[in-house]
Amino acid sequence: MNATLERWSTRRAFILAVTGAAVGLGNIWRFPYITGENGGAAFLVLYVVFVLLLGLPIMMAEILIGRAGRRSPVQSLGHLAALAGASRHWGLLGLFGAFTVFCILSFYSVVSGWSIEFFITAINGGFVGRNPAEIGAGFEAFLADPWRMTFNHTLFLFMTMTVVAAGVAKGLERLNNLLMPLLYLLLVLLAGYAATTDGFGTALSWLFRPDLAAITPMVVMHAMGHAFFTLAVGACALMAYGAYMPERQSLPHAAGAVALLDVGVALLAGIAIFSVVFSQGMDPGEGPGLMFVTLPIAFAELPWGALWLSVFFLLLLLATWTSSINLAEPMVATLQGRGLGRGRSAAIVGVLVWLMGLLSALSFSTLAEWRPLFGMSAFDLVTTIPTEIFLPVGGLLIAVFAAWVMPHREAQAALGVGEPGFRLWRTMVRWISIPLAALVLAAGLL
Ligand code: TRP
Repeated sequence: MNATLERWSTRRAFILAVTGAAVGLGNIWRFPYITGENGGAAFLVLYVVFVLLLGLPIMMAEILIGRAGRRSPVQSLGHLAALAGASRHWGLLGLFGAFTVFCILSFYSVVSGWSIEFFITAINGGFVGRNPAEIGAGFEAFLADPWRMTFNHTLFLFMTMTVVAAGVAKGLERLNNLLMPLLYLLLVLLAGYAATTDGFGTALSWLFRPDLAAITPMVVMHAMGHAFFTLAVGACALMAYGAYMPERQSLPHAAGAVALLDVGVALLAGIAIFSVVFSQGMDPGEGPGLMFVTLPIAFAELPWGALWLSVFFLLLLLATWTSSINLAEPMVATLQGRGLGRGRSAAIVGVLVWLMGLLSALSFSTLAEWRPLFGMSAFDLVTTIPTEIFLPVGGLLIAVFAAWVMPHREAQAALGVGEPGFRLWRTMVRWISIPLAALVLAAGLL
């Protein structure tokens, strides 16, 4: 582990790594379609509230545990529990996290694969001169093609696991650092273009004027799950990164910066996408295909549209690459913690995730009729349950561990702030985050 211990020798590098984990499909793909399915502004308000009251404080809890333990999640939890005289079984939480990211990475790789396909199509001018109906039909045909779906999933997962195995994530994060501002710029540009379309006004009021009557227990549950997902919190993945966090860095500052950027990217994507939706008279609740259908339409209207579209998908791919590397980390760290080499650990994780991912990749074709639970397809199940149940449960337990179980001194040192700051954080986690997460989970499950 020593070689990697130096990974994030600077504060900036740590923030970059966490931003790389946070910004990804959750912001640009998942946020718009989930918001669309849940009525817009009311969902958005809840999501922001959950980011502030749950996501941020628990993100700090999670990184703090890794930083205090300086080991793989399973070992950090076990070690700190022993220090506190608590049960060693807390280590199981690390395994639960590894199982959660296993499920998430399986579909994440498939959807990132869609970006590969769209990048290639865009660069070949495949969207030029297509009308919205044709673009929609093209996407449907792609989903229904088991071979192309599997090929792109395989390619993306291979890209991810190669970087993880070679331990060169740091290099990728640097590249990310260089190129992500361009992605943000493209989103600003798109949002600017959106402002000139007919749908812009409708999109804004739909996104920002909440209708409180639209709030149901399910909407609340979806918003909570998404807050965890987008911040990469609840599966011990940031805990694994926390183990490499440099000394003397304030965790609240780092976490705050990441959350701000993360929500900002989602809002820009939302504004751009919903302006297209309302300009074209489309359905905001279109589902997982929303981004893939609206963006080619939007870019088509811009000068050099085909070029920008391919650049956009390339950058999105880079963003999802660093996120999926983070998703792989808890699993790889767990195997490594048991004495396996990094390369072998990455290979095992890669094969298992690939197999699981086939269920998602084939959900739209070969397995379309297979509805194992609640009449939902494998893809619907794996994009819903791990995010909306496993992440909040994991986050809740992480919060309990950091705010109730861990010894005060270790926790405070790892948060990297003074006594008043620490007390503020702990009070918030103990009396707001934990009860709120428990309440929403209970309401949603009932
Ligand atoms: N936050 C990432 C996104 O928005 C996804 C992600 C990366 C994630 N690492 C995670 C989600 C760990 C849950 C847990 O695309």
